[in-house]
Amino acid sequence: MLTQTDLKRNVADAAVQFILPLLAPGVVLGVGTGSTVDLFIDALAPHKANFRGAASSSERSAARMREHGIEVFDLNEVGTMPVYVDGADEIDRSLNMIKGGGGALTREKIVASVAERFVCIVDESKVVDQLGGFPLPVEVIPMARTSVARRLAALGGQPVLRDGFITDNGCEILDVSGLAIPDPAALEASINNIPGVVCCGLFALAGADIALVSGQGGVAEMTGS
Ligand code: A5P
Repeated sequence: MLTQTDLKRNVADAAVQFILPLLAPGVVLGVGTGSTVDLFIDALAPHKANFRGAASSSERSAARMREHGIEVFDLNEVGTMPVYVDGADEIDRSLNMIKGGGGALTREKIVASVAERFVCIVDESKVVDQLGGFPLPVEVIPMARTSVARRLAALGGQPVLRDGFITDNGCEILDVSGLAIPDPAALEASINNIPGVVCCGLFALAGADIALVSGQGGVAEMTGS
């Protein structure tokens, strides 16, 4: 029986194999955040001579890449990016995701928006029929934490401030449980419209292009239904 860490390592290795054909001397990759991505960075490091470097969605991933000798670029220096690789907290079969369990959702959405393709890497415990079991992270400007929380409660959620946590952008996170999410793109758009919201952890208006899903039987590709 493979442990969850084994499953994460397997999908991280599979992601490196998946992107190898895209590597070239001028290529800058997009790299996400989380424990699965940590293993992806470790597996990517032996190939560092075959690409230029990476743009990172967090200080955490940037530090890990630098430790491996992978050059990290400011996103403003990057014109094109063939692929962005990141994990998720939940993903449905249409490749909509909840992200932000690690608090890096805003930079993740920004870096992903520059990439031609989003490759999501998860173990099978993250695949769900409908999003919403995992509390939805919403990054907020601190002065708007209470007003945004009221609006999220009006949408049917129970927002809880992530205590003592400040994002890489100097903001706060509300984790919203109890939301029914039958239409992830519509909910993402309405949360984005609340004044004071920096970013919503729903990735549905622009979801993943492919998911690599690691299970006991190996790593399978999920292309969306
Ligand atoms: C980080 O903010 C998140 O979006 C991560 O991508 C997500 O939490 C997955 O993390 P793990 O790979 O640690 O499960």
